[in-house]
Amino acid sequence: MSLTVTPLDNVGAEVSGFDIGKPISDAIKAELKALWYEHGVLLFRDQDINPQRQIEFSRIFGPLELHPLKATTSAENPELFVLENGGDNDKYYTAYYRGEEIVGRLDWHIDLHYTGRPNHGALLRAIVIPSADGLTGFGDLARAYDALDDATKQLLDKIELAYSFSMQRKHMRYVDLEGYQPGPYSPRKPSDVNFPDFPDAVYPGAVTHPVTGAKILGVVEQFLDRVIAPQRAGISNDESIELLERLVAHTRKPEFHYFHKWREGDMVLWDNWRIMHCTTGTKPGVRRVINRTTIAGDVTLGRTLSE
Ligand SMILES: [Fe+2]
Repeated sequence: MSLTVTPLDNVGAEVSGFDIGKPISDAIKAELKALWYEHGVLLFRDQDINPQRQIEFSRIFGPLELHPLKATTSAENPELFVLENGGDNDKYYTAYYRGEEIVGRLDWHIDLHYTGRPNHGALLRAIVIPSADGLTGFGDLARAYDALDDATKQLLDKIELAYSFSMQRKHMRYVDLEGYQPGPYSPRKPSDVNFPDFPDAVYPGAVTHPVTGAKILGVVEQFLDRVIAPQRAGISNDESIELLERLVAHTRKPEFHYFHKWREGDMVLWDNWRIMHCTTGTKPGVRRVINRTTIAGDVTLGRTLSE
């Protein structure tokens, strides 16, 4: 095959050796999809892309999802979601971290995880990129699982984890709150930003990847709330909290992470059933534009507690 695959630091691979402007053969499509499952994160550089081509290319990996925030999709390309910073809306995403004012910082998370039905993946293309900051981090929860000791793996098979959706970062139990202050416009409840309120989502301690069958560590710091009925697995509530603290610290180890420093035109695709991601944010007033397409999630990995 003609594709060139170059591993990125720790997680993912850069793939080159094809032209996105020309028809892509079924053999190359199959190879691209296999590489996505193998590496979890794929980087494509220097491809001549426009929104239509991004949408077509994304379809190789599965049916696309229209983003639930319809107001932010473009009318002519409803599959394309434009993430834009540097305007009036920044104030809602501004907060203080150890005294520094930062726009658009997000903790490690999985998109739509709080619904129990995460989308399968997403492809970001950098349109306007600031000269500093604005990195996107990717963390491999399959490798994080593999690196655990057998006793922890056995315990994970016996527990379920509840995730509690919240608009307020300070209400999240396992994110790093040291030096954190919300901004004056930070939303306080879902309806402040026209979001529905979500019931708790529940996942197994170890999630089985629906396609590859790989075990994925079910611990992601954003919205993580508790082990459900820890006594059923033979541990006390205190022990369950210590377990989650230890596992969240485990997911934060740099050996499972790749942080992408964007260049304009870069495209990054990730498997949202395996890879958690985060954003470092930027200083206020910095323009950043990313075009996003989303691969629909056709499998429910968790459940909601109201069911
Ligand atoms: Fe995200």
